[in-house]
Amino acid sequence: MHEAETIWKPEYSVGVDEIDAQHRYLFELWQMLVSIRDQEGNRRSRRQAILSLLDYIDLHFTTEEAYYREHPRFADHQRIHREFVARVQGFERDLENDRLDMHAMVDFLRDWLIDHIVHTDIRFFNDMRQIGANGS
Ligand SMILES: [Fe+2]
Repeated sequence: MHEAETIWKPEYSVGVDEIDAQHRYLFELWQMLVSIRDQEGNRRSRRQAILSLLDYIDLHFTTEEAYYREHPRFADHQRIHREFVARVQGFERDLENDRLDMHAMVDFLRDWLIDHIVHTDIRFFNDMRQIGANGS
């Protein structure tokens, strides 16, 4: 998949506007990393972009998790989020140690975001609608 094609697609919708808007913003932050990667970037701008992403991820996961706290597999989903945060923190450390591969990071982030939304988030939001529909 070419990066220019990585834009929001209707099939990424979880059915909740607030979360869809946050996912869209995550893709925007990702696009920013792509352009920084392609510049003669200094370390400070790269670091700033990664820290901005980390900040927003924190806000986003907190928002998202509130929607499915009652889900029987809530703890699994939260663990996946924590592992992702640890990966991104690892990128920031790699940058400080001059061994960050920006290309690998950008690819990982794109693949993770899309895969996670499509295979985990959408399923959880669907499950919660089922649970709600069953009146439990
Ligand atoms: Fe998630």
